[in-house]
Amino acid sequence: MLRGKRIVLGVTGSIACYKAADLASKLTQAGADVDAILTESAAKFVTPLTFRSLTLRPVFTDMFDPNSPMAEEHVALARAADAMIIAPASATTIARLTHGMADNMVALTALATKAPLLVAPAMDSQMWGNDATRANVASLRARGVIFVGPAEGRLASGTMGLGRLADNDTLLGALRQALGAGGDLAGRRIVVSAGGTQEPIDPVRYIGNRSSGKMGFAIAEQARDRGAKVTLVCGPGALATPYGIERVDVGTTAEMADAIGRATEGCDALIMAAAPADFRAANPAGQKIKRTGADLNVELTPNVDIIAGLRGGFVKVGFAAETESVLVNAHAKIAKKGLDMIVANDVTAPQAGFSGDTNLVTLIDRAGEVEELPLLTKHEVADHILDRVARMISARR
Ligand code: PMT
Repeated sequence: MLRGKRIVLGVTGSIACYKAADLASKLTQAGADVDAILTESAAKFVTPLTFRSLTLRPVFTDMFDPNSPMAEEHVALARAADAMIIAPASATTIARLTHGMADNMVALTALATKAPLLVAPAMDSQMWGNDATRANVASLRARGVIFVGPAEGRLASGTMGLGRLADNDTLLGALRQALGAGGDLAGRRIVVSAGGTQEPIDPVRYIGNRSSGKMGFAIAEQARDRGAKVTLVCGPGALATPYGIERVDVGTTAEMADAIGRATEGCDALIMAAAPADFRAANPAGQKIKRTGADLNVELTPNVDIIAGLRGGFVKVGFAAETESVLVNAHAKIAKKGLDMIVANDVTAPQAGFSGDTNLVTLIDRAGEVEELPLLTKHEVADHILDRVARMISARR
């Protein structure tokens, strides 16, 4: 999403400027061409050389520098930008943007660009809560400016409150969403499930599986980057919620079934990458089961098959996590579960299946067409699945 994109990074006066250096580095590593512009105040916190070294591109500070590449055309960066992000954005910069002032290069470029403009405020909570700032933010939002954060936490003043610069993963997610807003899934609503469910045996133990949620999270992020509105229903896990995605946390398979039933109402597609537990304890103990030295038998009873039970006119994509006869079993699940497509996943293959960042899958559709994919990152696998989903949704409409 960021590869080859021209991103203008405006940096304004705040102690959070040092975090903008890491943002410039992450954007550059993701393949973006980053044009950093520092205000005079920002250059007191961090040096232009820091950004030049990280982006390997000229850094802009002075509108009137005759040696600047901007000397010939003062709105060149604004025209070339695919997106502009101001991070950190001070209260003064927000006020400047509200009133359309162009008295420094950050404000000038923001005023002149037609690209999506993202603003990540960082200031003391009193300044953020001030009526003047609130009114400025509301006015800019109404004009289509995308505000990201601020986050809550410890502030430079030593107090706790709202005013911290949003973290860089959030800012990158917001940029990716803004860049992909007109993608092939724009206007579509996609529900994705991720992770394993946990079925209690007693109050401290459960039946679970090795799903980390990475495959489902990758699908959710790629769908967001292609313009979809995404709901992610996930089992317990430590993965951070990606920016711009609605997350619903569940524990058991029954809870996942309820959440997916609600989320899929009126959706365009469901992609079930989750590994819901197929069985639960028939009679979970009310207290922790004591060790006695004797064998313990836990009676299991089948859980509801979530995807098989869903009807509703949307595209249904399932995964098949298999350890043997992968394609035969996957084919059988298409019919058994009423799917439009299945992603056959040999979870015994090296670097595939649970927990890692890569996967090895074969896509099989209802008509029997088979597409074997090479070993790819989970985000690349997600894009192959979404290519098909986008086509299937269009064909239905
Ligand atoms: O999360 P990661 O660590 O990244 O790992 C990814 C993964 C291996 C979990 C993922 O790629 C995967 O294969 N997910 C499907 C796991 C699974 O439950 O497979 P299954 O063959 O048992 O189920 C077939 C389909 O029915 C799946 O889409 C599953 O979500 C769904 N199902 C299963 C059980 C159940 N009770 N209800 C369901 O809807």
